[in-house]
Amino acid sequence: MAKQTTLTLQKMKEQGEKITMVTAYDYSSATLAQLAGIDTILVGDSLQMVMLGDDSTIACTMDTMVHHTKAVVKGAPETFIVMDMPFGSYNISQQQAIENASRLMKEGRGDAVKLEGGTDMEHVIKAVVDAGIPVVGHIGLTPQTTAKLGGFKVQGKGEAAKEVLEDALAVERAGACMIVLECVPGELAAFISEKLTIPTIGIGAGNKTDGQVLVYHDLLGLFDKFVPKFVKVYKNIGNEIVEGIKEYISDVKSSAFPEEKHIFGGVSKEDLKDL
Ligand code: KIV
Repeated sequence: MAKQTTLTLQKMKEQGEKITMVTAYDYSSATLAQLAGIDTILVGDSLQMVMLGDDSTIACTMDTMVHHTKAVVKGAPETFIVMDMPFGSYNISQQQAIENASRLMKEGRGDAVKLEGGTDMEHVIKAVVDAGIPVVGHIGLTPQTTAKLGGFKVQGKGEAAKEVLEDALAVERAGACMIVLECVPGELAAFISEKLTIPTIGIGAGNKTDGQVLVYHDLLGLFDKFVPKFVKVYKNIGNEIVEGIKEYISDVKSSAFPEEKHIFGGVSKEDLKDL
């Protein structure tokens, strides 16, 4: 399969073909996602939670993002890779945003950056796009600002729908190539997806968006702190891993492992006799 680009992703929207996105944070998860035929990978700052054990994404740094993105790009060189800009790396000034987005492109070597925010971030998105860097927007529930939003809550219910729509329009106007809609009512996400010309990628946003994204650890049952309502656990690999490690422990305790086939030869009792 040829590598997706901003143009082919745009074409997919125009042709009504759904876009698939999954997060990955290291070489092996990226390799498997590419092997499965995913359209796009997101190196999400959610890695701060599912890989590093924090209860939010806030502490994620540029160094962490660069470190993980490099591994993902090595594992999935034929996949369109989106890199999250961490909290505090783009909110101070347009110059700061351009510098950090450039660093992610140069050192991480993904294909686009993603940053959170709508009307409040329009000027920043425009500045980064004008600097030649593809930007993916992210509106609705924006995990980096859950403190301001009052927690992990669905956004855009009732009259608040207008604000989310305005955010979406601002992100498109600023020149973003794609937009993530997180935790918004399905009807609103469908309306926004119709209204925008750029592809919309939903997470907890119903099934009428142009594509879907899920966190790798969520869809594979690898993260058990909580499972949001919008997640479908496709395979429970977490249980498989625990079973595998239990068997290993039991085999080691009983000396059933290593077996003859796992052991290097080349020294006989005779060789050891006079040592
Ligand atoms: O960091 C992340 O995984 C994300 C997704 C929830 C879209 O931003």
